[in-house]
Amino acid sequence: MKVIHTVSALNLALQPFRCEGVEIGFVPTMGALHEGHATLIRKSIEENGCTVVSLFVNPTQFNNSEDLRLYPRTPEEDRQLLQELGVEILFAPSVEEVYPEPDRRVFDFGLLDKVMEGRFRPGHFNGVAQVVSRLFSFVQPDRAYFGEKDFQQLAIVREMTRRLQIPVEIVGVPIVREPSGLAMSSRNQRLSLQEREQASQIYRMLDKSLGLTGEHLPRELAEWVVGEINNVPGLRVEYYEIVDGDSLRPIASWDESDRPVGCAAVYCGGVRLIDNISYR
Ligand code: PAF
Repeated sequence: MKVIHTVSALNLALQPFRCEGVEIGFVPTMGALHEGHATLIRKSIEENGCTVVSLFVNPTQFNNSEDLRLYPRTPEEDRQLLQELGVEILFAPSVEEVYPEPDRRVFDFGLLDKVMEGRFRPGHFNGVAQVVSRLFSFVQPDRAYFGEKDFQQLAIVREMTRRLQIPVEIVGVPIVREPSGLAMSSRNQRLSLQEREQASQIYRMLDKSLGLTGEHLPRELAEWVVGEINNVPGLRVEYYEIVDGDSLRPIASWDESDRPVGCAAVYCGGVRLIDNISYR
């Protein structure tokens, strides 16, 4: 595995693959890798001749400097895992390499970046769009892999790719869960054992809600989920919304959407976790 820190070295390393028409798969990450990332990477390795993984904690997508400071960083463990998985290129640029000048682009994704995460983390998706579009221009992958845990991020990346006409196939990969049901996330590293146990109740309640769609309208069911999760000591719901999975528009009745999805953001102690579940 080549470990590369600059865009020019990345171009040199990719050249032989490009010349031979080898397909390039790309998995952008912020490091602190876990089984969820490994699943994306295995899929990329299966589907492409060369897999590039980026490891870059992107400052422009953090609207809270404390969150950026506390974001887990495990570069040596990450490198070892990527080597074991059989990744061809690890791209770990500095902030200056990705942003030689400040990126002042402002994206407007309509409703997609106004609801849910967009409401509580203003500017977050603008930062995601900035960094993902830059990484795409460096790597020029044939396919790029994103986890469905970040459901709204995936919708934004698809939309950004469409609008900027970037010739890349965006592949969404289902959520990977701990045996307890807790969605895998780098942030889980910040949970104590007791908090992990509490946090596993998030998925338990989402899963339980699947059986209640016949009795409740989406808004009522969302309220039920919020109440149940808030009843668990240590958990505090920031939002739970049932939306159409394509437009992300909140739905008032089940027949308003072919793809209703419930999306949650929940604080467990000081750690903010997100999760989602499909109702169809
Ligand atoms: O999902 C993430 O880890 C990040 O938002 C991403 C896509 C790597 C962009 O920084």
